[in-house]
Amino acid sequence: MAFIQPDLALDLGSSYTSIYVKGRGLMLHEPTAVVAERADRHIIHAVGQEAKDLIGRTAENYILIDPVQHGLIADFDSTEILLRYFFRQTIGSSRILGPRVLVGVPSDIPAVSRKALREAILWAGARKVFFVANTFAAAIGTGLPVYEPVGSMVVSVGGGTTDAAVISLGGTVVSHAVPTGGQNMDEEIVNYLKKYSGMLIGDRTAEDVKIDLASAVPTKDERTVQVRGRNLLSSQAMVATLSSSQAHAAVKDPCMAVLGCIKWVLERTPPELSADIMRTGIHLTGGASQLYALDQFIGSQLSLPVYLARDPGDCTIRGLSYLLENPDLMESIISASEE
Ligand SMILES: Nc1ncnc2c1ncn2[C@@H]1O[C@H](COP(=O)(O)OP(=O)(O)O)[C@@H](O)[C@H]1O
Ligand SMILES: [Mg+2]
Repeated sequence: MAFIQPDLALDLGSSYTSIYVKGRGLMLHEPTAVVAERADRHIIHAVGQEAKDLIGRTAENYILIDPVQHGLIADFDSTEILLRYFFRQTIGSSRILGPRVLVGVPSDIPAVSRKALREAILWAGARKVFFVANTFAAAIGTGLPVYEPVGSMVVSVGGGTTDAAVISLGGTVVSHAVPTGGQNMDEEIVNYLKKYSGMLIGDRTAEDVKIDLASAVPTKDERTVQVRGRNLLSSQAMVATLSSSQAHAAVKDPCMAVLGCIKWVLERTPPELSADIMRTGIHLTGGASQLYALDQFIGSQLSLPVYLARDPGDCTIRGLSYLLENPDLMESIISASEE
């Protein structure tokens, strides 16, 4: 039995948490979700996948907590509990020195949020915490030449945030995050059906509609799906028909917010690097970048080439793992964090 736990890379997203263990590989990918007792939020009933599976089926006396919202800790205690549970699942708990943790953070993270994140990870059992920008990690994870003297643009559309950055020579030149992601698209679909069909649907149904039917651009082939929910007035079960143009109308605002975030960064990018990006394009990562035709929407609005990463939801943890496994790169992250 070893007494020092291995280093970890941690992607604590609003929707999903991933943990990579140095020398071993990706050990965990589970929803960032906790179910607690309504009467006492400190009594935890389920964590991770188990908690998400309970959504919509939770009895009256349980509540679902999203510990991380819009990329930041929204509930400190449940974040600590979730991390402690995930650390135990990936590396056990019977050791003396906890792991060193490399964690990704959103652009523009306020100092207090960064402090809360560090504390939650330490309290969950880590002995040291190092930060790296999520977009920097995602850029590595999708294979961009981040250490070369050329501008690369990466955009991450996650569950609760969109984060865009221009990177060159191993550093971030311009970056910006907005609190809009895939979960906001789900919410807009819920609101749409409330408003136009008088029906309340669950978050998981909304997510299914987003993935199966919604599109960032108006589609030529109109399709419809049957959506199940509850009548807002009578509370009885009901079914409504939703068309692809309605689903498009519902997610339009979040798509505009994604576009706005990218524009913000492009407008502040130095001309030489802009010229690089005209050539190399915008690289989309994050689970919600898979929204149908989001790449096409952004490309046509900005007249730039847009590429969707392979396995976009895994780019951040892939990049974090790459850094963690590379002693020289880790050394520079560690020395920068001690300044
Ligand atoms: N095929 C898809 N189309 C649209 N959205 C998707 C698709 N697959 C996953 N998503 C969305 O991606 C989001 C999660 O992305 P992820 O990058 O894992 O988030 P985070 O890192 O913020 O936790 C969720 O809102 C999910 O519904
Ligand atoms: Mg993520």
